[in-house]
Amino acid sequence: MTDAIAVLDFGSQYAQLIARRVRESNVYSELFPCDAPEQQVMSINPKGIIMSGGPGSVFQPGARQIPAYVLQSGLPILGICYGMQALVHALGGTVSASPEGEYGITSLEVVKATTFLPASQQQVLMSHGDTIEELPPGFTNLARTGKSPIAAMGDPHRNYYGLLFHPEVRHTQGGAEILRRFAIDICGAKAEWTPESIINQSVESIHQQVGARRALAAVSGGVDSSVAAALVHRAIGDQLVAVFVDTGLLRKHEGLQVTQAFKEYLGLELIAVDARQEFMDALRGIIDPEEKRKIIGERFIRIFEAQARQLGLPEFLVQGTIYPDVVESRASDRSKSDRIKTHHNVGGLPDQMQFELVEPLRYLFKDEVRVVGEALGLPPDLVWRQPFPGPGLAVRCLGEITPERLTCLRAADEILTSELRAAGLLNIIPKERLTTATATAQAFAVLLPVQSVGVMGDQRTYEEVIALRAVTTEDFMTADWARLPHDLLARIANRIVNEVGGVNRVVYDITAKPPATIEWE
Ligand code: XMP
Repeated sequence: MTDAIAVLDFGSQYAQLIARRVRESNVYSELFPCDAPEQQVMSINPKGIIMSGGPGSVFQPGARQIPAYVLQSGLPILGICYGMQALVHALGGTVSASPEGEYGITSLEVVKATTFLPASQQQVLMSHGDTIEELPPGFTNLARTGKSPIAAMGDPHRNYYGLLFHPEVRHTQGGAEILRRFAIDICGAKAEWTPESIINQSVESIHQQVGARRALAAVSGGVDSSVAAALVHRAIGDQLVAVFVDTGLLRKHEGLQVTQAFKEYLGLELIAVDARQEFMDALRGIIDPEEKRKIIGERFIRIFEAQARQLGLPEFLVQGTIYPDVVESRASDRSKSDRIKTHHNVGGLPDQMQFELVEPLRYLFKDEVRVVGEALGLPPDLVWRQPFPGPGLAVRCLGEITPERLTCLRAADEILTSELRAAGLLNIIPKERLTTATATAQAFAVLLPVQSVGVMGDQRTYEEVIALRAVTTEDFMTADWARLPHDLLARIANRIVNEVGGVNRVVYDITAKPPATIEWE
């Protein structure tokens, strides 16, 4: 079993990031609600436990406390923000409300340098209302800030540590390094969570699940479903049949690119199904986003069922569900955060599904999926392509979906994409290969069901609006709008109103996630 670090989520918006940063050190990490049963947490055989931040005060009635088994486990513990306060509270120190709290980036002064927190640590992100007044017995104060005399603590005998700041966010310089030292130096976890080990483990568990039976893969054209299919193909070879459905909701040339890539690089021939009319009929008159997602998810499954019958009924269906999908859809018991939208590949599944699911990416973050895809031999163009939602253009064509509106959206999207590509700003690429800070992690056009007045060649026009969405993000959980050069935006807008029929206005979405989401629906 791979060495692992368990992260207990006390309700922090950054809890997933903690697991992700730990994994960047090649140590497996998984997120659990803070009140998950002991058995569940211990089932990954953790070498250490990290407790996340969270809202509220540890000394209030009903506040979430550290479960007893954590302190009895003898494992190294790291408490972050609320997690540190909970540790102080549980072990006999004092946490109290501070008059003004401490929010934002601040300078940290290390008062006692250790291997865990060396003197070089400087800028950190703070976000807490309560403060540590008195340390529990056995702890030493390791650092302070202007507002927090105790900003980090350690007890090297029990291997208990606490940080009032957030090492998991990029704003904290060297934060990932602190988590690496905790996982590897203090917990003694081996750095064995590598693409090869992910592939080997997945192959083994797919073998166990599927055995000599057959599986059907739903390849949508996105990175996730492609890598999922490639992984299952590695595990069971031609027991896998991969079906590519043309829903009519794809981007320009997408179908051809995907089928060719699979054939060329994996020797896997996709079965192409033309279901454009079927989807169009099912979506006629539907404008509610959740309804669109449900209908599309259900159609997908029905089509696969029909394919499956033709193919002699494989028992398994491969899905490219990834970890953030699982957490955001609340389809799993592993997070406490609110449900945001029903992702097509999780919540949209009909109840009476006749397949058993194979979801080899269920515990992987997006960047891990890409690295695994590369290691499996998929072409970089496919692996590093921008994400595309399962429901496709349906959730970017706001209002009613018609073939005409889709054609318009596709043309605008193609203009945006080709201009970004020409400017070298399109592809998401691995951090270490990053050349420009404005490279967009995701960029697309959205067609709005809003008509506005314009003037073209002295004629009044009354046509729809295209919104451009381009974001920078590492994890797709939070995102910022890309600061694209104005000249480039001007060229894109100009081309769209001139070349795309039915559109007379282009706007640029300058909202971050949160509060907006990346997609509009
Ligand atoms: P949001 O809009 O929630 O999107 O900020 C976050 C990321 O997820 C993608 N997305 C989806 N992916 N099925 C998917 O596989 C879906 O139903 C779906 N909806 C959104 C979105 O494109 C972005 O990358």
